[in-house]
Amino acid sequence: MKDFLTVADYSPETLQALLDSAVQLKEEWKSGGNKPIFKDKVLAMIFQKPSLRTRVSFDMAMRHFGGDALYLSPAEIGLGKRESIADVARVVSGYVDAIMARVFDHAHVEELAKWASIPVINGLSDYNHPCQAMADALTIYEEFGKMKGLNVSYVGDGNNVAVSLMHVCAKLGANFTIGNPVGYDMPASAIELGKQLATESGSTITLLNDAREAVKNAHVIYTDTWTSMGQEEETKKRQQAFPPYQVNEALVAGAEDNVIVMHCLPAHRGEEITNEVADGPHSRLFPQAHNRLHAQKAILVKLIGPSGS
Ligand code: CP
Ligand code: NVA
Repeated sequence: MKDFLTVADYSPETLQALLDSAVQLKEEWKSGGNKPIFKDKVLAMIFQKPSLRTRVSFDMAMRHFGGDALYLSPAEIGLGKRESIADVARVVSGYVDAIMARVFDHAHVEELAKWASIPVINGLSDYNHPCQAMADALTIYEEFGKMKGLNVSYVGDGNNVAVSLMHVCAKLGANFTIGNPVGYDMPASAIELGKQLATESGSTITLLNDAREAVKNAHVIYTDTWTSMGQEEETKKRQQAFPPYQVNEALVAGAEDNVIVMHCLPAHRGEEITNEVADGPHSRLFPQAHNRLHAQKAILVKLIGPSGS
């Protein structure tokens, strides 16, 4: 596999191996630092949207391995506008060792991967966010020592983060439930794929429109912004539809006693999550954000590390 565009492309065994590698690389980094295996290697980071976590964690991952990263802003690249995606892919392939791209249209990261001769990593599209899902799985795995048999409940918008979380859960045997407002479902094709993956791993996908019902028996409650990047003109409408889906103390009380609360961040405190929950005892928001670094190191090592992909 040359690229990392969706977790659904990878076998459960490979995803588990990535998690094991992330645990090991995290340990190595904590006890003195990672080996300089990427000396002279450079990652090009193409961003069509803003970012804190994705940009900084990929940049630091490369530095920790002795490599480097280039930030290419929307204004500089003009992906598909100033220059065709196919031409950008072929030009950049001659300069650097891998591309990480954050795009609006998922087809654009697929197009980059098609034309690039080097690995392409999806750093978020309107369809999914697989690097986030790997950090999420790592956080859950560290907390519970497994994914299989856990109940992961996502409350809120059926967006890119929900899709990748559903797919990683279905791959690794966790039961995934979503509670979203009517009209804010995940794409039908993503759900169909999730159900197929869940059947293969012996887990379940449950689709609900009630937040309280969705978090019953949950070991993990997950939420994300009500308005994703690119949907800003819908903000007002969404602010009317989503308040019953807020992750607050009353909602968390309806889950398992040892439930953990997750959010990919950035958080809109007072909207999809309250301060009390975000900063409370069940919250794993910051360890989860920090795990982006470690999960992405494992992805980079797999794609451009000494043994290749
Ligand atoms: N969670 C996440 O991808 O954050 P950024 O948008 O800041 O990269
Ligand atoms: N669903 C959000 C995730 C941000 C990391 C968005 O796409 O804006």
